[in-house]
Order: sequence, then structure tokens, then C-alpha cells
Amino acid sequence: MNIPAIQVKDLSFRYPQEPKNVLSQLDLAFSRGERVAIVGKNGAGKTTLAKMISGLLKPMTGQVLLEGTPLRYKRHEALPHPFKVCYIFQNPDDQIFQSTVEREICYPEKKLTDKKHFSEIVHLCGLEAQLETHPYNLPWSQRKFVTIASILMQRPDCIILDEPTAGQDHQGLLRLETILEYLKQNGTTVLMISHDVEFVAKNFARVIALADSTVLANCSVQEFFYDFPLVDRAHLLPPFVPQLIKDSGAKMPRLLTLGELTAYLEANTANPQATI
Ligand SMILES: Nc1ncnc2c1ncn2[C@@H]1O[C@H](COP(=O)(O)OP(=O)(O)O)[C@@H](O)[C@H]1O
Ligand SMILES: [Mg+2]
Repeated sequence: MNIPAIQVKDLSFRYPQEPKNVLSQLDLAFSRGERVAIVGKNGAGKTTLAKMISGLLKPMTGQVLLEGTPLRYKRHEALPHPFKVCYIFQNPDDQIFQSTVEREICYPEKKLTDKKHFSEIVHLCGLEAQLETHPYNLPWSQRKFVTIASILMQRPDCIILDEPTAGQDHQGLLRLETILEYLKQNGTTVLMISHDVEFVAKNFARVIALADSTVLANCSVQEFFYDFPLVDRAHLLPPFVPQLIKDSGAKMPRLLTLGELTAYLEANTANPQATI
């Protein structure tokens, strides 16, 4: 039997002093190397779920299992586990605490032992010219790449990115795609919280939507983005291409991106130039 890389069993959580559960009786599983997007309106519990999977919060009831063995806790934080899940904070300022970019990336190592890995990560995150800079002197979007670099340095088995697309320009989004490609080649499991439907449609295979303290959807990106009432209940707008295909009434497969649409039209139109 194939044991999931990550399994969440009957997971519930309520913050102290809050009357209601943020999450109730969640059951989810993730395979090794899988890429899953987690969506839902603000306050749906996405960050709370991410923090429980990465061991930063202890579930009230239920379990998080990594490669079949449950996380164990000391007070409210999980003890280290051989399957390393690392969470990248929504707000980089909650994560950064060193006085230069280089120290932040290398932490907790005092002396750099793997220079090749370091150079690769710094290049991937576009931080070559900023190593001596104080992270707080960088723009917010670049500080996010500092936090990503410091986590990549630790060679995680699973990385959870909390809204990495927020505040990124086109170059930043392209850099994120390059990082996703690097993680794919390394077989790293990636969970990403995002409101950016175009980015999710282009780069992820599965969507989990949270609403009303439970799982509203857990399906392929195609199923999700072509279920328009479901997308609406997740407080999102559909990506451009599914909306266009729906509005035009055209009989087409469930295409998600402009790239897919262009390839489809080129393959299925005698003279694609004539249709423009
Ligand atoms: N430390 C906290 N103490 C009390 N309530 C919190 C805390 N963190 C988050 N919450 C509440 O829990 C709910 C879920 O928050 P969160 O997991 O951050 O949602 P999301 O990431 O989907 O926006 C929200 O109603 C939020 O206000
Ligand atoms: Mg959040």
C-alpha cells in the first residue's frame, strides 16, 4: 500500500478565547512530490492548516502523519520528524530575524558548509547582489524570496508557501515558477496557499478549498475551475480561459491557460491566423 507523504486525520482546531473551531474534522492526504494549491476566503483557516501540517501548531483533536508516523509534540510545537515539512510565513517579517540576507539564508548554520547548494539557492532566488544587505532594507516582494531561500537551504521534503504570489510583479511570478520547477526536479512536495487563480491554474494539479471550517473542494484544477458555482463559493473568480470558454459556449476541452488555448486552436484550426 502506498503511504501518503502527509496525512491529516480528523483534524480540528480552535484558537483559545475563540468561540468556534477554525477547522473541524479535516481529512486530507498528500503524495510525495505532489503540488497542491490551498484556496479559500480570508479567515477560512488556510494558514492555520499550514501551521498544523508543519508542526507549528498542535491540533486540538486529530493527527498529522508524515510518511505514516504521527507528529509528536512538546507543548504546542511538534518535535523534529525525518520527513521535513517547512512553512514559509505569509508575512516575511514574521520569519526574518538575522541582520544580513546571507545570515538569514544560512541560519542555523554559523559557517557555510555547502557552498555549491548556497550559490544555487541564492541564484534561484535572485539575491546575489543583496547578500550583505539588511533584509528590512529590501522591498517586501524580495524579502519573501529571502524567506524562501532560507527554507530551500534546509532541503525540505515538503514546502508550504503561504501566499507567495501576493505583491509579486511579473518577474516575481516567473521567479516563483522557476523555484517550483526546481522543487519538482527535487521531488519536493509543494503546498501553496494563494488567491491567484491564474498562477494556480498554470502551476498546480490539485486544489483544496476551505470554507466554513471544512473542506469545500478537493479535486483536480480542471474540475475545480470548471465548477463555476464552486469557484464562487470559494470566494474566487474563475481564470480567464475557463470563463471565456463558458461565455462563448464553445465546445472545447477543459483548458485552463492561454498557452493551452493557443496550442488547442493551432492544432484544431485549419488556418489559425484567419480566426484572429
Ligand atoms: N492567533 C490567533 N488567535 C485568535 N484567532 C486567530 C489567530 N490566528 C488566526 N485566527 C482566526 O482564525 C481564523 C482563521 O485564520 P487563518 O488560518 O489565518 O485564515 P486564512 O489563512 O485562511 O486567512 C480567522 O478567523 C482568524 O481571525
Ligand atoms: Mg492566511
